[in-house]
Amino acid sequence: MSSAKKINIKLKIWRQENEKDSGRFEEFSMSDVLTDMSFLEMMDTLNEKIIKSGKRPIEFESDCREGICGTCSLMISGQAHGPVRGATTCQLYMRSFQDGEVITIEPWRAKAFPIIRDLVTDRRAFDRIQMAGGYTGAKTGPHADANAMLIPKDLADRAMDAAACIGCGACVAACPNASASLFTAAKITQFALLPQGAPLRKQRAQNMVLQMDKEGFGSCSNLGECEAACPKKISIQNITIMKQEYFKAALAADFREGMGSAEGGA
Ligand code: FES
Repeated sequence: MSSAKKINIKLKIWRQENEKDSGRFEEFSMSDVLTDMSFLEMMDTLNEKIIKSGKRPIEFESDCREGICGTCSLMISGQAHGPVRGATTCQLYMRSFQDGEVITIEPWRAKAFPIIRDLVTDRRAFDRIQMAGGYTGAKTGPHADANAMLIPKDLADRAMDAAACIGCGACVAACPNASASLFTAAKITQFALLPQGAPLRKQRAQNMVLQMDKEGFGSCSNLGECEAACPKKISIQNITIMKQEYFKAALAADFREGMGSAEGGA
């Protein structure tokens, strides 16, 4: 016998036809919502009702529904992924809300993430940043022995923690400057700390930071909202590593240039 409670909620959901439409909030009431239901199941149920009434359902994204893919990006009552720390929207359950609560649901708001429709944004800017970093320079071939390249545990752990980033964009949505610093930093750090990432280390840091700026993301606000909103709890310390990597690369490039002109002038 189920012991699940039921609640009544009000939803204020952002509706927008396309990028050019100015958009508006639309209100819906949901009664007898099971608290054991996931947030996205609640959205599915709402969409079933909307479809039955002959109207256009609310567009939102999801894929894995297990906190892995990073597509379920919603701003819920002003918090990226909602009120539960360290969880994605798909890992959020209705038990986190009160009976009678008004829940506001919006898309990520950032110039670099234009709204496609309703709650769906175009986040390909993240793909372009990652592509600017290129591939690792390690040669392919027979599988190397697991102990052929010894990596200190501390470095391996920090690289793995950075690699946990799922690219959902919550860091951008939470930052008052809509900065992509935490995302870019995580992607730079996951390679920078490992020997496999060493061959293209400088080039990767420079290209990814330049691409981040080109995409129109703001600069780091230093407020730490990104770390608080990140469902994978990616540390803001990665931004320090990114800055170090970038400046080391820039200094090395300046040095090479200086050597070039010195040799040319000799
Ligand atoms: S749907 Fe994949 S992380 Fe939420």
